[in-house]
Amino acid sequence: MTFNILFFGDVVGAVGRKALAACLPELRTQYASDLVVANVENLAHGAGVTAQTLQDLLAAGVDVFTGGNHSWDNPLGAPLFEDEAWNTKLVVPMNYGGAKSGQASLLIEKNSAKILIVNLMGRMFTHPDTTSPFEKLSEILATSIATEAQAILVDLHAEATGEKEAFGYFADGKVAAVLGTHTHVATADARLLPQGTAYVTDVGRCGFHQSVIGYDPKTVIPNFLAQNKQKYEIPRTGTAEVNGVAITVDLDTGRAVGLDRIRKFVDVLA
Ligand SMILES: [Fe+2]
Ligand SMILES: [Fe+2]
Repeated sequence: MTFNILFFGDVVGAVGRKALAACLPELRTQYASDLVVANVENLAHGAGVTAQTLQDLLAAGVDVFTGGNHSWDNPLGAPLFEDEAWNTKLVVPMNYGGAKSGQASLLIEKNSAKILIVNLMGRMFTHPDTTSPFEKLSEILATSIATEAQAILVDLHAEATGEKEAFGYFADGKVAAVLGTHTHVATADARLLPQGTAYVTDVGRCGFHQSVIGYDPKTVIPNFLAQNKQKYEIPRTGTAEVNGVAITVDLDTGRAVGLDRIRKFVDVLA
């Protein structure tokens, strides 16, 4: 039996939420998706989450949310990671040095299949207190929920391409997918690794297209020219890109048998 998963990279602000919501119905049909996962660390105006912005994505058809170093940035959203009801849908990288509350893995039951969603943070160029995602994965794989799962999907939230590829080969054959997030820039290396793990270095953002990682270039460039920091702004309307992957998993082996790159452009009017 096979199981189809759609996964989307960092959703950045309202424009990203709207673009993903606009694309999702057609993509869910096209790929006959059983489960939809999205990284939401930048969901609420670029920083963290709120109950309302998560509800927006639930209404759009997303089932599970992963996160990253920005997950706890919004004071309205931070308590959700301690909330029992929300923790049926939320995972965050708890090996991140700045992690607050939450869970690094979550066993989901959907369409009669048990899928373990894991969220890990890379160590290179991130918080100095971040612990090894390699060791954390081994720990998680040794737990009973990993044994119970028919497939395991890992969102590896990391900066360095080399660390991400090394992790991919480390995890190859142990999990169904290693999907990179955090850089907001889609990479063109999506592939099935030799032992059957679907891999991509960075899925890329769901966010503004003509932007610097989702933010208005006019507000980003001054930070590179001067010492005084300026707040990054997210354009509210215009063309957005939606980057994701569609993975088909063989539930008998827990390995991926199909991997498709998704890249859509959506005009967000208001
Ligand atoms: Fe991000
Ligand atoms: Fe991040």
